[in-house]
Amino acid sequence: MRIAVGNDHAAMEGPPPLFKPEIVRYLREQGHTVVDCGTNSAESVDYPDQAQAVCDTLLAGEADAGLLMCGTGIGMSIAANRNPGIRAAVCVTPDMARLSREHNNANVLCFGKRILSLQESLRIIDVWLATPFSEGERHVRRVCKMG
Ligand code: RB5
Repeated sequence: MRIAVGNDHAAMEGPPPLFKPEIVRYLREQGHTVVDCGTNSAESVDYPDQAQAVCDTLLAGEADAGLLMCGTGIGMSIAANRNPGIRAAVCVTPDMARLSREHNNANVLCFGKRILSLQESLRIIDVWLATPFSEGERHVRRVCKMG
């Protein structure tokens, strides 16, 4: 899968192992192609910029899914969801990750480095990437209503 990854400085803050590089490494080890939308330093940036880069990549058809990381995942999700066609979900449990795919057909997963451990994040990523949209009639109808 081609996955656009974006983050602010929170996902680059120490101590090591740093979230962003570990997650990118993990995705590549799983055979995914990562489109890195930055940032790659701990210098402060504005999360809407990386959120927009991931959404633009996805909407241009240059990625199949997006991952966005900030301190909480909240800022990234608010920014991403301003784009029609983007369904960004903040997930803090594997069940939320599964349901965001099955029911909401989320195409961007958001999570927070200051909320989850790296191991928790990797588990959520695994579940989210492995779960298809249910295609259930009521879920299709509801997702379509959001444009
Ligand atoms: C940056 O300090 C922090 O505000 C940001 O990473 C994010 O949590 C915003 O939602």
